[in-house]
Amino acid sequence: MAAQDIAPPLLTRDRLDEVEGWFFAADVFLFDWLLAHQRAQGICGDLLELGVYKGKSAILIGFHAADGERFTVCDLFDAGEAPDDSTATEMRVYYPTLTRQVFEANYLRFHRRLPTVIQSSSSGITTHVPERSCRFVHIDASHLYHHVRVDIAAARQLLTEDGIVSLDDFRSPHTPGVAAATWEAVLTIGLKPVVLTENKLYGTWGSPNDVRDTLADRLATHPTLWGVTEDVAGHTLLRVHSR
Ligand SMILES: C[S@@+](CC[C@H](N)C(=O)[O-])C[C@H]1O[C@@H](n2cnc3c(N)ncnc32)[C@H](O)[C@@H]1O
Repeated sequence: MAAQDIAPPLLTRDRLDEVEGWFFAADVFLFDWLLAHQRAQGICGDLLELGVYKGKSAILIGFHAADGERFTVCDLFDAGEAPDDSTATEMRVYYPTLTRQVFEANYLRFHRRLPTVIQSSSSGITTHVPERSCRFVHIDASHLYHHVRVDIAAARQLLTEDGIVSLDDFRSPHTPGVAAATWEAVLTIGLKPVVLTENKLYGTWGSPNDVRDTLADRLATHPTLWGVTEDVAGHTLLRVHSR
């Protein structure tokens, strides 16, 4: 066997911190917990991430794709692919060193195969992913209101009955468009908020009770995170904080 035929060993998930990105401890825990909880409940389905940057959260999601579950990611990767001037500006300001090659190289340090990669605006994702096929959708692409509300509508169409959507940056001062689109979805199209962290809101169009209450029990013994429930606009959600 030639030396170039021997695949290098894969990195284990505890090396995720070596990948540059915006994906923090509480959400790493929640992605792992929610995706494993779905499996334990017999909930199957595909996985989708809108906005991968250099792959930090995608790499973690990839560890949860079971046999037969497809993992799709979507990113512009290049300002030249942006659908409008405001997105091109956002790309140049926040992601000047991003390329598709960087994402793919990072991903292949942890996994033998790439997910299905769609290089285009997230607004077209429903033409690539079948309706009602996904158990988990992570929305972390554009921060602009008119794009995020389209991404949320896509998640609603693509999620299975008890599927979960995670919305990044739903409360950051530099992303008011995400906040507006997120709470608009809660108030007008039936998104039920289940869990909040400092960075992400997790919701469902299915039943929130089992997942919220089981997670609250788990957090009661967690060494670094704690949770408290709060009623907001007719929904009981779980706020998760660091100790
Ligand atoms: C905040 S980063 C994603 C962070 C990543 N999930 C992580 O864990 O580090 C946002 C990504 O969304 C991409 N993006 C921005 N606007 C987009 C759009 N309209 N459609 C698709 N991708 C977009 C950017 O290229 C960037 O890679």
